[in-house]
This record gives sequence, C-alpha cells and structure tokens, in this order.
Amino acid sequence: MEIKYNKKAKNLTTYGGKGVVKEIYLPNDIEEAVALRKNKCDLHILGGGSNTLIPDGENAVPVVSFDNLNKIEIQGNTLKVGAGARVSRVITTARRYGLGGLEFLAGIPASIGGLVKMNAGAFGHEIGVYIDKIVSLSADTEIIEYCRPFDFGYRKGFSGIVIEVGMCLERMLEDKSRYIESRYINERRLRQPAGRSTGSVFKNAQCSAGYYVDKVGLKGMRVGGAQISQKHGNFIVNVDEGSADDFLALVEIMKIRVFEEFGVLLEKEFIILGEK
Ligand code: EPU
Repeated sequence: MEIKYNKKAKNLTTYGGKGVVKEIYLPNDIEEAVALRKNKCDLHILGGGSNTLIPDGENAVPVVSFDNLNKIEIQGNTLKVGAGARVSRVITTARRYGLGGLEFLAGIPASIGGLVKMNAGAFGHEIGVYIDKIVSLSADTEIIEYCRPFDFGYRKGFSGIVIEVGMCLERMLEDKSRYIESRYINERRLRQPAGRSTGSVFKNAQCSAGYYVDKVGLKGMRVGGAQISQKHGNFIVNVDEGSADDFLALVEIMKIRVFEEFGVLLEKEFIILGEK
C-alpha cells in the first residue's frame, strides 16, 4: 500500500490552510482497503478535498485516500466507478461512450465517493438520481453492496464508507454533453468566485445561505488571509495564505450575524478532517 507522509493541506484541499497530515494511506485495491479498515478502525477518508477543511497544525488521525481506487468500467448505460475517480474524468469517459447526465457537476474537483457521501447537487440536479449501487466497507471489515432505493436528501447522501459506485447514465450525443457542460461551467463562473474555497460554506435554509450573508452585509469581510467572497456570500476564499482558523472565525461570524438578523441557524456544508 502506498503511504504519503507530511502532506500539506494546500496540496490536499481546494481551500488549503496551514495544516499538515502526518500519514495518508492509499490502498491500491479493495482488499487493501479492507485490511486497512481491520488494522485502523477509525479511518478518516479524504476525497478530492473540495469540501474539506484540514485543521491547522499537525493532524495525526489516520487519513485514507481512495485516489488509487479510480477505475471506470462501462457496460451499456451502466458504470462501475471507484470512489477515488474524479468526476471530471467520469464525465469525459462516459461521454466517449455516448453517455451523459453528470455535466451539472463539471468543474468541481471532487471524487465520486465524496460526491455520493454528500449527494452533491447543483442547478436543480443531484448525483443520487444516478446511483444504483454502493459498495461500502462496513464496521466489521466486510464489503457490503447496497442497492437503490437510497435514503438521500438535500446534501444528505450515503453515511458509510464508499469504495465503489454503480451508476446508470443517459444516452447522450457527445456534442450535447459538451454543450451542457460548458453552459454549467459558465453559470458557475458567473455566480461563484474563482480561487481557493470549499465551495458552499453552508447548506441552504429557507433561502440561499448566500442571500442571508449578503443581506447582513458581510460580503468582503476578511479575517487573516480568508475572505467572504464579494461575488457570492456563501463562499470563503483563501486570498492570502489563509489558515483553517481564519476560515472558521469567519464561519462563526456569518452564523451569528445571520441568526441575529433572521433567526436562521445555518448548518455547515464543509467537512472538518477528523471530526466525528
Ligand atoms: N444570492 C444573493 N447574494 C449572494 C449569493 C446569492 O442574494 O451573495 C441569491 C441569488 O441572487 C439567488 C439565490 O441567492 O437568487 C441563489 O444563489 P445561487 O443561484 O448562486 O445558488 P445557491 O443557492 O447559492 C446552490 C448550491 C451550489 C450550486 C448552485 C447552483 C447549496 C448550498 N449551494 O447555491 O452548490 O452550485 O446552487 O445550482 O445548495 C456547493 O454545494 O458547494 C455549491 C457550490
């Protein structure tokens, strides 16, 4: 099994920060993943890092990356995808086989496993719709296959450890898939900031979290090297060597101000590495 040592948060996550992960285990196949689970029961899985904040300083929790479990197999309309496969690769591979449907996720540097765990969504679509099967590592180190129907909801996906996913996509001409993808990427560029962030900081409540943060006048606020985006109130951008603490300080301010003004308690969407 591959093991990486002392990896910096800025090389592991889209936000970055000042954290360091002491050891990252990268199983090369499902058997190695099972063995890892057996030896180290308390695993923290790191996907593409697009929705994860790594605490500052040294992180000694056993971190696992499924980056090497990234195979994509296609048969008819169905795909078998390793949890570590990046969604951009899944979209382009599926397209070559005349399949589409996941274009709404284009441009997100996320792994399929991470997207399924949070039932990622955008532009009125959610990944859960396409998921038929999930292969998971259970607590007693068995491999368990779950089939639909799944109890997914808004930003609520699979609660266990995802190692492989079975998906069913739509037949789609390559040109159509490319066109749809470019429309979504443009939409994202128009509405959301470029730069290093975790994507949406909060889940939406009755209204969009960005709307609330905007209305309480916090856009542009900065703590250390982290700044609430001027473009979209639900993004914190790492503008100048920001730390995880800078990020979390802004999160607290946003939560408190929105609660004071609207009585709405915003719930975070990002994951903190190591949290239960
Ligand atoms: N708005 C403001 N001020 C802002 C930002 C937004 O008033 O600063 C208003 C907009 O004018 C609009 C409404 O809020 O009327 C919704 O904004 P937007 O269309 O940007 O969508 P969102 O609800 O903020 C959600 C997802 C995004 C996804 C977009 C596009 C959540 C938490 N966020 O954002 O997902 O890309 O829709 O469909 O559900 C993510 O999960 O990381 C993410 C980026």
